[in-house]
Amino acid sequence: MAKTALVTGILGQDGPYLAQFLIKKGYKVYGLIRRYSNPNFSNLDFVGVTNDVDYVEGDMNDEASLLNIVRTLQPTEVYNLAAQSFVKSSFDQAKLTTEVNSLGPLYLLNAIKYFSPMTKFYQASTSEMFGLQHTNGYQDENTPFHPRSPYGVSKVYAYWMTVNYRESYGLFTANGILFNHESPIRGIQFVTRKITDGVARIKLGLAKDLRLGNLEAKRDWGFAGDYVEAMYLMLQQPASNDYVIGTGESHTVREFVEAAFKSVGINNWKKYVVIDPQYKRPAEVPALKAKADRAMKNLGWKPKVSFEELVEMMVKADLKRYGSK
Ligand code: NAP
Ligand code: GDD
Repeated sequence: MAKTALVTGILGQDGPYLAQFLIKKGYKVYGLIRRYSNPNFSNLDFVGVTNDVDYVEGDMNDEASLLNIVRTLQPTEVYNLAAQSFVKSSFDQAKLTTEVNSLGPLYLLNAIKYFSPMTKFYQASTSEMFGLQHTNGYQDENTPFHPRSPYGVSKVYAYWMTVNYRESYGLFTANGILFNHESPIRGIQFVTRKITDGVARIKLGLAKDLRLGNLEAKRDWGFAGDYVEAMYLMLQQPASNDYVIGTGESHTVREFVEAAFKSVGINNWKKYVVIDPQYKRPAEVPALKAKADRAMKNLGWKPKVSFEELVEMMVKADLKRYGSK
């Protein structure tokens, strides 16, 4: 019988790449969607799987809807990707962020515990949980957490619940502690996509400047399409565990800006970039760099797309969106 997967966050960035990956593996994929006046399937369209996914209606804030879906589907695997995932907004919407990101996973874990205990559970954990902590400049599975935003705090709760339900009830649960990963379908507010979209518009004469916040923050940026494979691999292991996923290479926002402008032949990027305090955060995570040795050794996973290839892929896609050949 075909394996089945319930994917929450199916309309976001990672959901479509994961759905595409699982469908290729022969899975039947169910995507959780909220009720919308106008649902937006553009990211699923981009990867070409809109009509290959079955949709189930529910909301991470609505416990009964999640209990019912898990009870009815009894999926082989649940990938919990849904979140209020924008760190900046979490400072102004801390309660909503906590409800979706902390209680949502708890509802799913309870649904599995009571109605489908053989279901394997993947939790989308994040390098944001490390915040200020590092070991010799890197973060791995043994690095302590010091979250710097309500988003980071909400994800620490979900991380520990995922571990706790494994230890308490013997469920197969895995935390993927993923570092920043991007793609042409990255949300437009996140800095990489904001930059590539801005660069495309400047190149085509549709915008005059690009307004950004802290250019000195360092991130370990990889390609989302590579990272969904790691999610899958975590649930195929003989025993459940938690894994850091990243490239091991870190760049400043400034370097991303330079690379993006350079990819369209603009070298004097400073002419276009305006520092705007509204894009700075009450507390910042200064530097993230993954040590993904456990994943490389136990999962046989490694990233395939380099930083330069990622920047170029995203800029090209944005140029194409604006009609440039
Ligand atoms: P994303 O593009 O922001 O997608 C998040 C998805 O969650 C959206 O489809 C959204 O649905 C859904 N969602 C939000 N609130 C919901 C609710 N109340 N009920 C049901 N669905 C809801 O995020 P992403 O980049 O794909 O990331 C996927 C997951 O990985 C997130 O949990 C994120 O926190 C985590 N993560 C991401 C990264 C990264 O660099 N991308 C790194 C580490 C961890 P709507 O479309 O209805 O708004
Ligand atoms: N969004 C944004 N907009 N960020 C900016 C800007 C700007 O104009 N200017 C500078 N930055 C800096 C932010 O201050 C941050 O240090 C860095 O760019 C990256 O910001 P985001 O792209 O918004 O991502 P993030 O690192 O805060 O969070 C993302 O990665 C996490 C994993 O570490 C999100 O995808 C989270 O959901 C994810 O968990």
